[in-house]
Amino acid sequence: MAKIGYVFDAYGTLFDVHSAMRKHADAVGPHYAAISETWRVKQLEYSWVRSLMGSYADFWRLTGEALDFALHHHGIDDEKLRNGLLEEYWTLDAFDDVVPTLKRLREEGYRIAILSNGSPDMLGAATDHSGIASLVDDIFSVDAVKTFKTSPDVYRMIVDAWDCKTKKVGFVSSNRWDIAATSKLEFKTVWLNR
Ligand code: LAC
Repeated sequence: MAKIGYVFDAYGTLFDVHSAMRKHADAVGPHYAAISETWRVKQLEYSWVRSLMGSYADFWRLTGEALDFALHHHGIDDEKLRNGLLEEYWTLDAFDDVVPTLKRLREEGYRIAILSNGSPDMLGAATDHSGIASLVDDIFSVDAVKTFKTSPDVYRMIVDAWDCKTKKVGFVSSNRWDIAATSKLEFKTVWLNR
């Protein structure tokens, strides 16, 4: 059965979340990579806990709360730096392989989409900034269903919009848990080990 399109996770798969901290490495200090890791881990933890609690808040808020935890945990108290780091989420770098891969898939006739925990404005800004907006047909944000990955409701947005079976869609993510969820739903999964 031929696939009709590919759906990509955003953060960590298309966009390098650690580029935000790297750009402020001098101000953050020698532990910037560990702090960035704490930021990411907490961002995801908050998304899972809120989904289980049935207490959705948008990903911008969670990302800010996770950054507050990470900076506090590592003994950094600097509001200007905090706000500068968070703002980087609007202009995250895409990984080098993203543009050539999306171009090639489109040339081969596939539909391309993003499915992400990110809010629509976060995803719009990052796709514009990274120059991939014209390569993407659809952007699906969890904000439409008011819960986060790995709720099946999130992934069902793809097959509802494309009116197809999950088996017709390639789902690409660097997140193992994203791949576990989509494998269970019988998407054709590609784990991108960044
Ligand atoms: C995303 C995060 C979880 O959904 O990577 O884009």
